[in-house]
Amino acid sequence: MAAIVGSVWVTATLLMFVLGGHALNLLRVTATSRNPPSTPTVHCWCSSYPNLTVCSWPEPSLSPPTHYVATCSERHRQKVTQQCHLIQPGSSSSDLISASSPSSERLWHCHLPSLKLLTSYIINVTAVSSGGSSSHLSSFMLEDIVKPDPPIDVRVSPHGIRNLLVEWSPPPSWANLDIFPLKYQILYQYKSRGIPKSVSLGPYENTTVELKGLTQGGTYMFQVCAKELLGLGKCSDWSSPVEITIPRTKS
Ligand SMILES: *[C@@H]1O[C@H](CO)[C@@H](O)[C@H](O)[C@H]1NC(C)=O
Ligand SMILES: *[C@@H]1O[C@H](CO)[C@@H](O)[C@H](O)[C@H]1NC(C)=O
Ligand SMILES: *[C@@H]1O[C@H](CO)[C@@H](O)[C@H](O)[C@H]1NC(C)=O
Repeated sequence: MAAIVGSVWVTATLLMFVLGGHALNLLRVTATSRNPPSTPTVHCWCSSYPNLTVCSWPEPSLSPPTHYVATCSERHRQKVTQQCHLIQPGSSSSDLISASSPSSERLWHCHLPSLKLLTSYIINVTAVSSGGSSSHLSSFMLEDIVKPDPPIDVRVSPHGIRNLLVEWSPPPSWANLDIFPLKYQILYQYKSRGIPKSVSLGPYENTTVELKGLTQGGTYMFQVCAKELLGLGKCSDWSSPVEITIPRTKS
């Protein structure tokens, strides 16, 4: 058995080597036993650089009682291990985190509050049940997995004939806005003679943008996303859509 696990580990290590340039490298080690729980599918992102990294994975729907052990270690100093603080599905802090996720899956989360910049980490989330255990292992660097929460409080208002003012507020969870500013993109959608169009604008460094020359009587739907100013990681999910119809002026 140990030999099988050993060879799986070697394969996984090579895989990580080959995929070295990717943001989150999956290494999978499934423990061998007769009836191990399913390997958690773990997704990690840094929602407030550099202080808050969150990992999540769905709770399997049909499985014996399973608990999880989640740890994170530096890839090149594997003895230095920290716990990833677990949050059960359905707890109030878990609802806060997953509020933006459309899925109805019950998600486990864990928090890593203090990771170092420019350091390669390995996260190990192990599912343990009476039938055995199985581990998900993946590697990441904070800089590659930055993904803010969406901007909030998006407002769109008429601003003179055929013009609109779009305003929003940064995601409150992004704690270090002074040191690590955000930039924003706007997506707006409308119909032109019945054909759906979509336009992407930005990036903008401030939180107010004036759009000019829109169509009177046209209905526009706006969304905003936030990205770290220097371009680390990804843009947030889009904020929920805000719709406005440009007033017609009477002639
Ligand atoms: C983020 O972490 C750094 C170092 O770990 C700490 O000095 C700083 O106070 C933290 N900031 C916040 C907003 O928690
Ligand atoms: C992952 O974590 C589990 C549970 O703590 C541990 O038994 C296992 O050895 C770890 N795997 C690796 C490759 O470090
Ligand atoms: C945002 O930037 C634009 C141009 O870059 C500027 O005209 C506008 O005044 C800025 N708004 C705020 C609120 O700083």
